[in-house]
Amino acid sequence: MKNNRIVVVGSSNTDMVIRCPNMPRPGETVLGGEFLMNHGGKGANQAVAAAKLGGNVTFIAKIGDDIFGAETLEMLRRTGIDTSHVSVSSDLPSGVALINVDAKGENSISVASGSNAALSGKDIDNAMEVISTADVMIAQLETPVETVAYAAEMAKRHGVTVVLNPAPAPLSPLPDALLRNVDIIIPNKTEAEAISGISITDGDSERKAIEAISAKGVGTTIITLGSKGALLCTGGDFIMVPTMKVKTVDTTAAGDTFCGAFCVALTEGKGLVDAVRFGNKAAAISVTRNGAQQSAPTREEVDDVWEARN
Ligand code: RIB
Repeated sequence: MKNNRIVVVGSSNTDMVIRCPNMPRPGETVLGGEFLMNHGGKGANQAVAAAKLGGNVTFIAKIGDDIFGAETLEMLRRTGIDTSHVSVSSDLPSGVALINVDAKGENSISVASGSNAALSGKDIDNAMEVISTADVMIAQLETPVETVAYAAEMAKRHGVTVVLNPAPAPLSPLPDALLRNVDIIIPNKTEAEAISGISITDGDSERKAIEAISAKGVGTTIITLGSKGALLCTGGDFIMVPTMKVKTVDTTAAGDTFCGAFCVALTEGKGLVDAVRFGNKAAAISVTRNGAQQSAPTREEVDDVWEARN
């Protein structure tokens, strides 16, 4: 352990959310929705989830020179996140996500990446001091994959635990050069299918997908399985870690909350199974309320559940 720091390399967006009775199909207009505008972006969601749980978080990101960027920066600072490596693009707008959430709490998301797409190797070089002294670095795929691969290479070189949340699901194979520097990968079912090339239909195919991912050189894989919990594979052992039953309101950012909480648990020295349980609990609480970052629980909330259920 170095300084318990979690470095998050990733995106921030402003989420424009409409709650609707059902997901619009192509060509369909659905009425009846409630509109919400929230802070989002997979990277920022993970950074905020970790900070709310007591993590010492530095966020490496790029925002636009606009009102969305300014409000994002202000929110990150208010949450206690080190923003000294959040830089501003002079020519690209801040990221925006359009999100539909249906009556079951399921979502569909489209993202205009804007400044997130300009996060570069130079930004990683500028942050080398914080990366090299961190305990854990986590990244997602809403910023360029070359930047993520470079950050992973640098972090690994300095003995930092590298976590990859490969979201959104990659459209082309992830570079081997990235995967060989990843210690722990946390895909959901869709992302695991995209990376492994195996369609997941049951427990057997879940394991086969994990084996295919392990064969690419990643030591530990955790597939998040929503209301079922998460399947952990480490050192060739498979461990299913169930989660709590809750009333789902909105699943947006549940995976991000899991990732942020998991990283906090790692920096606190918890073992992998306990870190997954901690992530499961944080994510379960988050789906009981609306939005991305505002749905992430506080430490007290997770500890209360932790006490009650263990
Ligand atoms: O994972 C949820 C996030 O995905 C949303 O906050 C949205 O901004 C997109 O990045």
